[in-house]
Amino acid sequence: MNKKKLAALKAAEHIKNNMVLGLGTGSTAYYLIERVEELVRSGYDLKCVATSKQTEEHARVLGIPVFELDEVESIDLTIDGVDEIDPSFNAIKGGGGALLREKIVAGISEKVIWIMDESKLVPALGKFPLPVEIISFGHRHLLRKMESLGLNPALRLSEGKPYLTDNRNYIVDLHLGENFDIPKIKALLDDLSGVVETGLFLNTCDMIAVGYDGGAKIIINNKK
Ligand code: A5P
Repeated sequence: MNKKKLAALKAAEHIKNNMVLGLGTGSTAYYLIERVEELVRSGYDLKCVATSKQTEEHARVLGIPVFELDEVESIDLTIDGVDEIDPSFNAIKGGGGALLREKIVAGISEKVIWIMDESKLVPALGKFPLPVEIISFGHRHLLRKMESLGLNPALRLSEGKPYLTDNRNYIVDLHLGENFDIPKIKALLDDLSGVVETGLFLNTCDMIAVGYDGGAKIIINNKK
């Protein structure tokens, strides 16, 4: 079995009957959604909230009950993917462009589990470009500003046009390099008008499920 699937199945062991469940986005979350379908078919009464239109569609096709975020009071557990995670459980997310909804859903979840293969565990963040969701209005000016701040921005494109998020915003990928100064970059981005949200998820998850050759293990975040 592949490592992403092993991680997803391991995390899915934490799903209990009657939960409100946040469904993540991406190729690892794909296996989670397939597992949730099995649980629903076996009789689990779950209310699910999706972190992207892609996940929502996948879940609906499989007959999983999907609700709007505002239709639920709270979320018991969210299981989502991640692009890079360091030993302090700081992470980069948003490779699939869903970072804003992922952060909103994580923020109101009682418990958050991230699922991944072992390649996502890194000593320091930054090899993976940091996705930042920005509004389209005046985006060229914002890109120039980011350039002048040394953030190495690249507007994400899809078929030659700016990539559009589910919220009809753009994504800028910042090529910061390994071991960038997290508080400094966060402060710079927090200060820029036009930035909607960043893919920096600091100490957000309660545990991670990591898939290796032949198995998966849970690592608890004791600092949260
Ligand atoms: C979606 O925007 C992302 O945050 C994904 O959760 C992340 O990119 C992990 O994706 P994979 O599981 O496909 O690597």
